[in-house]
Amino acid sequence: MQLQTFEAYLEAYELSTKNPEQFWHSIAEGFIWQQPWNKVLNWNFKDPTIQWFCNARLNITENCIDRHLPQKANTTAFIFEENESSNNHLHISYQQLHDEVCRLANVLKQLGVTKGNRVCIYMPMIPQAVYAMLACARIGAVHSVVFGGFSAQALVDRINDSQCKVVLTSDGAFRGNKKIPMKATVDEALQHCPSVTHTLVYNRTGDNVAKQEGRDFDWETETQKQPASCAPVYIDSEDPLFILYTSGSTGKPKGVVHSSGGYMVYTCYSFLNVFQYQANQVYWCTADVGWITGHSYITYGPLLAGATSVIFEGIPTYPNAGRFWEVIDKHQVNIFYTAPTAIRALEAAGLDFVKPYSLASLKVLGSVGEPINEEAWHWYDTNIGKNRCPIVDTWWQTETGGILISPLAGLTKTKPGFATLPLPGIQPVLVNDKGEEIEGNNVEGNLCIRFPWPSMIRTTFGDHERCRHNYFATYTNLYFTGDGCKRDEEGYYRITGRVDDVMNISGHRIGTAEVESAIDEHEDVVECAVVGYPHDIKGQGIYAYCIVPHTTKTEAELRQEILNSVTQLIGAIAKPDKIQFVKGLPKTRSGKIMRRILRKIAEGELSNLGDTSTLLDPTVIEEIVTGKL
Ligand code: PRX
Repeated sequence: MQLQTFEAYLEAYELSTKNPEQFWHSIAEGFIWQQPWNKVLNWNFKDPTIQWFCNARLNITENCIDRHLPQKANTTAFIFEENESSNNHLHISYQQLHDEVCRLANVLKQLGVTKGNRVCIYMPMIPQAVYAMLACARIGAVHSVVFGGFSAQALVDRINDSQCKVVLTSDGAFRGNKKIPMKATVDEALQHCPSVTHTLVYNRTGDNVAKQEGRDFDWETETQKQPASCAPVYIDSEDPLFILYTSGSTGKPKGVVHSSGGYMVYTCYSFLNVFQYQANQVYWCTADVGWITGHSYITYGPLLAGATSVIFEGIPTYPNAGRFWEVIDKHQVNIFYTAPTAIRALEAAGLDFVKPYSLASLKVLGSVGEPINEEAWHWYDTNIGKNRCPIVDTWWQTETGGILISPLAGLTKTKPGFATLPLPGIQPVLVNDKGEEIEGNNVEGNLCIRFPWPSMIRTTFGDHERCRHNYFATYTNLYFTGDGCKRDEEGYYRITGRVDDVMNISGHRIGTAEVESAIDEHEDVVECAVVGYPHDIKGQGIYAYCIVPHTTKTEAELRQEILNSVTQLIGAIAKPDKIQFVKGLPKTRSGKIMRRILRKIAEGELSNLGDTSTLLDPTVIEEIVTGKL
């Protein structure tokens, strides 16, 4: 399954495009299936219908855990590094992982969860979050992890959309020098979530939290009552494994649904090949389990490969900006996978925080979530990788389930800012706005994928039409990523960023429409428009233009209230960095806001605003430009 040379990659790539069924058939044979498939692939992008390993049956946790036990019962699956540095970090072996997952799965069963039921996971970055995902998968339940930074309202929207039955949470979370309430947020949310019958609350911070009799149960008390074995429930390869909500160009986040069999095969294959993980190495992905990176490359990919990974509860800058480097030395991390925004923040903190650490254990560095600027790439390469660790700039999305375009560490020649080449099985295409394919090299266009891959999105929960419309309707017979992309003279891919109304703030995907509807909730705001603009640390910042014709408040008061509204409705990650009050917004005669112009103004490209002749009232531009923040 693991490619050893660049030539082997080229060969695999060729086979994977000439005969994808044969290619994936042989990869899939490396897993445990309760029943094999009778057809590798059934698909069309029109509906879309995508089925991999048709009619096969499996349980992904058997592949993540049980299959490793004969050789690896005592091997560490996870090293838990707490928020506060201490010497009593926890090593969780594959056997312990098995036992914890089984106990929790038994509790879920007792709470009435059965195959196909949805379970919401709203947890800190602690091993129990991973146990929670696997416990659901053990019994064929579908998990929906909601990032711990989302607000009660965001939780309500996500729980109700997929009608979750149970919520797994904790009393609170440690994050740097703060304690974040979690159960209190869940309590607030559950006032509006009739589908939820029970919660299970892990005691992390020890804070006294309210417990509702009959509804809320204590995690440890309940798991301790259960046996450490639970037979895996076998499900169809196409049965859903999880739902993960992500932002699109409308106000309502969509529940991306991933399947079981295809997702398993691709996350393991991509993990082993991109990072070139070798037996006994220590791997660390700093993402949160609330995002797709945490799903595919903390939980499933590494466990499927039998790897040892670090789970980190803290933040990069606590107690100081040397924390990542300290953890790398402490646990002798070989493979380190993080986001450009973290790299830029740590670069800004200065080299004094790096110097005390040797970082000699590092072999491979990774980057994910947003384009990595060349300066950050070189800083990472020089100061962290000491010019001896390949950097894998991995491009992918919540919808793709796994990494699609990336160097294979040590095999593919890297180039700063380039995600380089597609993985085997991935057929990227660049198209122009008319949907015509742009062939050859040294070209730029919208990035699409021509052929299905095993871990791709199957549907958006409860609304298949939305899935079709969003990803498969823009260009005929192509999956549209929403990203712009260049292909250089060597055929290397460089992602240039979103071409739709989705922003990428510190690697978090946030829709402009979501932020707008949160701002519009403020009673004095009659209309607003939100765009992304370049930000030194976050990659993109949020710039909001708001029309407030009448108010009794000062601008400072208004700003604070708008920020509060966004925090309450979405979460602090979506707070605008800049709020400009304007009299009008640039609109076409048909009333459409011309975001292109607002984006240019926010970017500071004032001399190049493009054609403004179609505007209803061109004078608004002048006022906006004059008041630019
Ligand atoms: O714009 C691309 C950017 O992040 C988007 C996907 O966001 P999300 O679904 O939250 O998943 C993030 C983690 C996989 C993409 O459409 N993106 C992700 N990785 C890269 C990237 N842009 C440039 N280079 C990357 N390596």
